Amino acid sequence: MSDKFVLSEYPYDRLNHLKRRIVEKFGEVVDLSIGTPIDPSPKGVRLAYSDLSNTEVGYPPSVGSGELLLSTSNWLEFVTGVKIGSDEIGSCVGTKEFIALLPGFLKLLYPDKDTVFGPSLSYPTYRMGAELANLKYETFDQDHVLEDLLALDHKILKKILCIYINSPANPTGNIYDLTAIKDFAQENNILLVSDECYMEYNWVSEPKTILGKDNRNVLAVHSLSKRSNAAGIRVGSYCGDKSVVGFLKEIRKHAGLMIPGPSQRAAVAAYSDYEHIKLQRNIYKKRLEILIKFFENLGLQADMPEGGFYLWIRLHDDPRLENITFSDTEPLDKNYETELYLDQSWTNWIGLNTGVLVSPGSFYGPTGVNFIRIAAVAKTDRLERLLEI
Ligand SMILES: Cc1ncc(COP(=O)(O)O)c(C=O)c1O
Repeated sequence: MSDKFVLSEYPYDRLNHLKRRIVEKFGEVVDLSIGTPIDPSPKGVRLAYSDLSNTEVGYPPSVGSGELLLSTSNWLEFVTGVKIGSDEIGSCVGTKEFIALLPGFLKLLYPDKDTVFGPSLSYPTYRMGAELANLKYETFDQDHVLEDLLALDHKILKKILCIYINSPANPTGNIYDLTAIKDFAQENNILLVSDECYMEYNWVSEPKTILGKDNRNVLAVHSLSKRSNAAGIRVGSYCGDKSVVGFLKEIRKHAGLMIPGPSQRAAVAAYSDYEHIKLQRNIYKKRLEILIKFFENLGLQADMPEGGFYLWIRLHDDPRLENITFSDTEPLDKNYETELYLDQSWTNWIGLNTGVLVSPGSFYGPTGVNFIRIAAVAKTDRLERLLEI
């Protein structure tokens, strides 16, 4: 008899109990757990979205309107200098659905392969995509990705459906040189999926993409959510290997995956606006600096990330944690039923003593158990008030 499918719990739901306790105590919660944008999207985006002169009588193109595809590739060329062809790009309904569905679609394309690889600390949807398609999920250390992959047996390499990499990385904020891993993927005929949704939040260099002249075995994924404070309009894109893009365009059309018309028009406005991102970058940078001070005041050493808008803080044991008990929270994981790990203890301590909700590092992989992640997603003046605690 085959095993019954058991869906993993949605990680952030495990914070609901703590969130309620924080609100009881402080009357509000400064929620820095999920990386959801909070600032207004650019005016042109809002206007385009609410333009009532356009009626949505027909189905929008699944791959994206010609205008949307053109504005996306123009934006990509403007930001990275890389020009891609019209047969190398498609649009998606935000990148989360793309990532969650990709392994299942790739399995149809490569029936003999059955394993998805992703970083040991990562955005949880890489693993979830494999889980939803009943595929194996294996991890590597993104700091040593090439060593980890080179150590794999040839037979295992042949089973890999795709490898995810993410730079700037969520949750660590690290930025990686992707040249060698791209060479590896092309030499071994393995699809490399580069999640570049934080590309323009690069604090140490210019934005970088894995795309170039030769995009065989490569897909890059970009999102408007973080760039343009437009998570609500649900627009992203995938670019790269012509044959994979062509296959995905067709299968996604059959599945009825299409961005609603108003969102497509709003996305054209967002991609054509190169100014708002400069302001948004300054806003996140300032917030990260304030948060670094706040955590230092709490006795936790935080460093500016290389990219993205998260702090990834290494934790240490502390006598203050002794007052934190199981009654403060629901178990975050079955491993916690016997022991409170540092990430959960600190998440509780910070929440119950400051009103700030952070994410336990283990949400992003078991090796995150000694870390917390903080998203710079509260208004700057609210964060400044945290420094008065
Ligand atoms: C690394 C990474 N990739 C993809 C996404 C999905 O973003 P969206 O679905 O809004 O495009 C997120 C969202 O937090 C993310 O952190």
